Amino acid sequence: MALFNVDKISNSLEDQFKPEQISLYKLEEYIRALYESNQHDKLIKDLNNYLEKYSGSYEKIVSNKMLNTIELLQNKTVLKSKPMKLRIALTSDCNIRCLMCSSHNYHFNISENIFKEIIGLLPYLRYVQWYGGEVFVSKYFKDIFDEACKYPYLVQRIDTNGLLLNETWINKIVEHSVGLDISIDGITKDIYEKIRYGGKFENLIDNLNLIYKKGKETASWSRPENKTLLSMSFITMKSNYRQLEGIVEFAKKYNFGALIINYLCATDYTQEFYKQEKLDDSAEIMEHINKVMPHVINEADKCGIKVHDRVSRNNSHSMVTKQSNTPRKDKLFCFIPWQQLETNFLGGVRPYCFCKKNAGDINKNSLEEIWNNEIFQEYRAKLLSGNCSDFCSAPCLNGQVVNLRNI
Ligand SMILES: C[S@@+](CC[C@H](N)C(=O)[O-])C[C@H]1O[C@@H](n2cnc3c(N)ncnc32)[C@H](O)[C@@H]1O
Ligand code: SF4
Ligand code: SF4
Repeated sequence: MALFNVDKISNSLEDQFKPEQISLYKLEEYIRALYESNQHDKLIKDLNNYLEKYSGSYEKIVSNKMLNTIELLQNKTVLKSKPMKLRIALTSDCNIRCLMCSSHNYHFNISENIFKEIIGLLPYLRYVQWYGGEVFVSKYFKDIFDEACKYPYLVQRIDTNGLLLNETWINKIVEHSVGLDISIDGITKDIYEKIRYGGKFENLIDNLNLIYKKGKETASWSRPENKTLLSMSFITMKSNYRQLEGIVEFAKKYNFGALIINYLCATDYTQEFYKQEKLDDSAEIMEHINKVMPHVINEADKCGIKVHDRVSRNNSHSMVTKQSNTPRKDKLFCFIPWQQLETNFLGGVRPYCFCKKNAGDINKNSLEEIWNNEIFQEYRAKLLSGNCSDFCSAPCLNGQVVNLRNI
């Protein structure tokens, strides 16, 4: 049900939203309701009034959201609005060499120009996810992160192995309620150090203890609704699947709020490892996992830990749910190419990891150029035409990926 009934929008935007309670979702609903009922003059007047009187330090993010919503309503494929969500790999470099990962076979770092562009985009962004390689190796990360922390509206998340964290970083991360997704593919020293080659388990545990301590002392971080700020990613393979049995106890001990149980993928440089370690060629192992995962989910639930199960046959807890297989009926079911941009650790760009076609390369072009290049325009045009099967992957087309209109 729409949040706004047009009949009830007799008042202006400023009557509906006080500045401290403006929600970008509600703002979008407000704009849609007025636009679709042809109250364009009132809409423009309201938006301008609101920006002038109230937006203050939020002016860029609020006006960008307004512009973006209107551009979507007008079916624009070339946008004046900027992305609202970024997922950026700052480097392919890393302090360790996990056996399943190929990042260390490359040597990519963002250029100074891209660094400056990211800094310039921060005031417009609602979400940003930093990853790599290992972000804490990037010479730009400290400056980018410190700048990003100046924008209270900006939700940040870091994907990391957690080994280069220290007290200074942990204090900043916890105090700014930045999400931290730590990859831990073994909960004992032997398995962890075998898979996460070069990583020291004691070092990880020291950092988890520091996060625990700082988290307990920090009121905002320890609020129940912020529990999922700290999550743990575990890639399940033959070497470690037995550890699933102890994973909830481990997660509970260090106060993780979410467990992401992932599957192993093959990469260009890890084919042999993949062949040895993949699970689906062993019925016995899969049976074991299918038996264990309901217990994991149940035990986690008792401690308030969310589980994203992407390995067992019961994996309805995943963002890609294999159980749903209903082709999308609504015409424009995805707003991602209007709102989001993602780069990988080679510099390649797409709207989202599910998108099939590469849309650019930050080694060659700026983010701004890529945002409105031919391929981004084509993504938008194809989604508008309802004929996007050559650009969009099956999980999206079959309704298995959620949150495609959710920024
Ligand atoms: C490339 S890492 C970058 C962030 C950080 N260095 C880390 O380890 O979390 C991002 C995620 O990809 C996962 N990953 C690496 N190689 C993988 C593979 N072959 N299959 C599935 N996930 C993989 C890592 O475990 C990690 O959770
Ligand atoms: S998975 Fe992360 S920590 Fe491991 S080698 Fe790859 S980038 Fe580094
Ligand atoms: S693959 Fe298509 S539907 Fe999925 S996120 Fe990309 S553009 Fe949207």
